[in-house]
Amino acid sequence: MMQRGAVTRLMDHVRARKDPFWWFEYPPARALNDARMSHLASLDLPLEGGSVLEVGAGIGLLTGFFEERGCTVMSTDARPENIAELRRRHPERRARVLDLEDAAQVAAVGSFDVVFCYGTLYHLGTPAESLEALGQVAPLILLETCLTPGDQMAVNLVAEHTALNQAQSMQGCRPTRPWVMDQLRRHWGHAYASLTAPAHPDFPTDWPACPGVVDPVHHTRAVFVGSRSELDLPGLSPELPERLERRS
Ligand SMILES: C[S@@+](CC[C@H](N)C(=O)[O-])C[C@H]1O[C@@H](n2cnc3c(N)ncnc32)[C@H](O)[C@@H]1O
Repeated sequence: MMQRGAVTRLMDHVRARKDPFWWFEYPPARALNDARMSHLASLDLPLEGGSVLEVGAGIGLLTGFFEERGCTVMSTDARPENIAELRRRHPERRARVLDLEDAAQVAAVGSFDVVFCYGTLYHLGTPAESLEALGQVAPLILLETCLTPGDQMAVNLVAEHTALNQAQSMQGCRPTRPWVMDQLRRHWGHAYASLTAPAHPDFPTDWPACPGVVDPVHHTRAVFVGSRSELDLPGLSPELPERLERRS
């Protein structure tokens, strides 16, 4: 098993040399995308027909979720290469370069109903400033990120390597869940954590059992929602749940 895993990993690196976008769509990334998006659908958020700012969109593999719900989407990413590839694959979509570490760029992007921020916050070296700027852009944010387990408020900046799906500034973060909830409350007014975990091992169902060490390599993820108005949805809690139900 170990040897097959190593061979597969080697083949992934060979493939990534030929195709720099491979890391966005190799099988583990596809599995993560499927789990996250079917989980998002299960939250029953009022998204139909809204305008969406997708940040850190990569090559646009998650955009279809919103298109299927009649939304208009502006897909953005810090990397011109990713936006060029997104446009090549989907010439009909609206897409532009947007660096979330540049608050002036975020302020100039316009107003939307929803910010969709999945898989992106932990690739930022300025997560607090970026969330503050995004708080001015839309009354609702859907946020999925990698985290460090623990009850303390900590942002935990980490170094990242160069790849088209990593931090543009080569600095990322692995904040704690309380830190994320605090930021969402500050910039949206109401913060919610998902009571269910996507069907993927990166999403713990027992947070007290997770080791509270900053780990830039192994991913520990959760889903949050920030909202200017109070939400009353069965899948969301204003308190951080210690244990979550796994979606099948
Ligand atoms: C792991 S990928 C996530 C792609 C997609 N959102 C998903 O969840 O599958 C992270 C993306 O964030 C982008 N990114 C990195 N630094 C950024 C920044 N400062 N501003 C905006 N996007 C950034 C990367 O270029 C990459 O496309």
